[in-house]
Amino acid sequence: MTTALPNPATDTGAGPVFDRLRRHCSPKLALTGGFAGRGAVESVAEGCRVTLSDGRTALDFGSYAVTLLGHRHPAVTAAVRAQLDAMPTSTRALANPVAAAAAARLSGYLGDALPKVHFGLNGADAVEVAVKLARLATGRPRVLAVRGAFHGKSLGALALTHSPLYRRGLLGSEVDVVHVDAEDPAAVGRETAGGRVAALVFEPVQGENGALPLPTEVLRQWCADAARDGAFVIADEIQCGLRRCGERSVALADGLPVDGVLLGKPLGGGVVPLSALLCSERLYAPLAADPFLHSATFGGHPLSCAAVPAALDAIEQLADHGESLAAQLDVLLTGLQERHPRVVRAVPGRGLLRGLDCTSPRAAGATVLELAATGLLVSPCLSRPTTVRLLPPLLTTPAQLAEAASILDSALAATERTLRTTDVGTSEGAHPDAHT
Ligand SMILES: Cc1ncc(COP(=O)(O)O)c(C=O)c1O
Repeated sequence: MTTALPNPATDTGAGPVFDRLRRHCSPKLALTGGFAGRGAVESVAEGCRVTLSDGRTALDFGSYAVTLLGHRHPAVTAAVRAQLDAMPTSTRALANPVAAAAAARLSGYLGDALPKVHFGLNGADAVEVAVKLARLATGRPRVLAVRGAFHGKSLGALALTHSPLYRRGLLGSEVDVVHVDAEDPAAVGRETAGGRVAALVFEPVQGENGALPLPTEVLRQWCADAARDGAFVIADEIQCGLRRCGERSVALADGLPVDGVLLGKPLGGGVVPLSALLCSERLYAPLAADPFLHSATFGGHPLSCAAVPAALDAIEQLADHGESLAAQLDVLLTGLQERHPRVVRAVPGRGLLRGLDCTSPRAAGATVLELAATGLLVSPCLSRPTTVRLLPPLLTTPAQLAEAASILDSALAATERTLRTTDVGTSEGAHPDAHT
């Protein structure tokens, strides 16, 4: 594998970037970004392709699931640009028509089952408001989350995130959380029976935990038990929703009776940051009574909300293509697992949220770096360092998928050679640092 650290003396374009990151941000950001870009930095992007500062290009099957519509989708950028020229910021004293239209459109998009909408700035924000509302509406303290879950890193959301990697040194935050095991269908019923549980929060497909779909029948049982005991059920679809896994909402498509769905990541069309809680009247009741119970200066920002109708239209236009793309991706990944059994032991996931589960964290780390160096950007999994995550945009063409297939095949062969020479396959070394 050929990797080079950035050299500020010879690389005048990128060098200052790494220098500034080292001085003013985390030195590790400079290190990992330097390795991934072989000394170059990201420069411009369009669709599935990113151009680096040294002129090379890479396919983007990563971006932590934000670029479902690729980069700079023209309909989304046009909508955002029009809003930029009209009124990018809200007075917050006057009613804002752009946020109201986005809320109505989003609620209708999920079939009107969840009529209430609250916009946040990022995924963790949506988790925070859902938990707050469930606690306020029930008067109960406890929240159930699932082992392996990832719900964000702000203090409240972090309490629901399972990995000790991100909770170390921060335990004792306000939220009382119990993590239940997806192999235990009776776990939720046991917890809710005591009448202390406000909500159950789960990802129908756990993204950061290795692209792992949770068993639908277990979720069905959990939802029934939670409802029986008066606890709300919230599906966190920040990563798996909006047709990333084929459906607008995985939970609703699977017929799970949820009180709320969380959306984020590609909700702003890959152009602007935005998240949303969509929920029932009952869960939203505390906010209906007092909208200032949970508000933020930039909540429902017009620039972000302007992207919503354009993003949803574009996602729907690409839905059929996404389905056939997912089928082709499945064939490709199965073939890779068969050809590289020393590196790939499973290919979990659903739709366009897929993983290459590798034989060790170092095998996964080596593969991520080799892929980046040879023109395919992917995302590691924050909570499962053996899994390399593949998140192709809905608009990936057959030619681009073939290009990605060839890069993946060569990268896995390179990792295999590295494993043979350095025996990293059995080592539990550090995984590549990941940042969202
Ligand atoms: C399922 C899920 N929920 C919540 C979050 C947190 O989102 P954000 O990083 O935008 O705060 C993530 C981020 O990866 C996620 O995958």
